[in-house]
Amino acid sequence: MYSTLLTSLENNTLIVTINRPDKLNALNAQVFTDLDAVADEIYANPEIKSAIITGAGAKAFVAGADISEFSSMNKEQAMAMAKRGQDVFFKIENSRKPIIAAVNGFALGGGCELAMACHFRVCSDNAKFGQPEVNLGLIPGYGGTQRLTQLIGKGKSMEFQMTAQTIDAAEALRLNLVNYVTAPDKLLETAKALLQTIHTKAPVAIGKIIECINVAIVSDSAYTNGKSGYDREIECFGECFETKDMREGAAAFMEKRKANFIGE
Ligand code: COA
Repeated sequence: MYSTLLTSLENNTLIVTINRPDKLNALNAQVFTDLDAVADEIYANPEIKSAIITGAGAKAFVAGADISEFSSMNKEQAMAMAKRGQDVFFKIENSRKPIIAAVNGFALGGGCELAMACHFRVCSDNAKFGQPEVNLGLIPGYGGTQRLTQLIGKGKSMEFQMTAQTIDAAEALRLNLVNYVTAPDKLLETAKALLQTIHTKAPVAIGKIIECINVAIVSDSAYTNGKSGYDREIECFGECFETKDMREGAAAFMEKRKANFIGE
């Protein structure tokens, strides 16, 4: 179905594997087409409650945008490419179902940007992160200047992107770029277990958590609909009271039993 992705559905989690291991899973135009389509599938398919994005092979999550596509590009084409990448990553970030990056090796350039567009990240102890674009006379174009700053703060983001340094998993954990570091053979298991915990919660509320937290960190008014995060939180809090799951959750607490959420 996808020429550059492998997908499998396990316990309502769609595992999406970027599958160009001979090119260290570099993001070419076809990968963006496929990521766009798989995001649509995640949004639309009720069997899918969450997703994990990872890379094929033992070496790389994604080693960046595909540099071989750069050489013949002019300014307009480059801007269109950045816009396209940003749009696809916004779609991932705005999914109302959780999407975790399981970073299994190099996450450089567009790979680091893809991981940062996911809701949070776990990585294997051999992972390496970096925004090395200045080595190529470039800057990140898929949201890296913004999301890295949001995640690790301005000073470290400045240093990280100006020096093009690559950091290891332990440093990524220390900087809050990732939530957990695991042995390589425990990576997917860890991501799946986190999502299984989230699956036990009310899905509509989970979607609203994602929405409100995204509004907290994104200042673009088109994205936030001109509303502050506090305003949106009030609305979302109220909207939860219109769900069957909120009634069920409160009733289950009062009746000292486990809630049975249906996603409505
Ligand atoms: N775009 C296109 N091809 C890429 C790529 C990228 N971003 N990253 C790796 N590849 C390709 C290599 O060209 C090579 O292809 P080949 O076998 O046909 O020559 C293959 O993937 C393996 O990569 P290689 O460089 O031989 O592996 P390595 O172990 O020596 O080095 C890296 C690994 C990640 C350090 C190195 O590949 C690298 O620096 N990649 C580019 C990272 C980058 O600058 N990303 C930001 C882009 S904006």
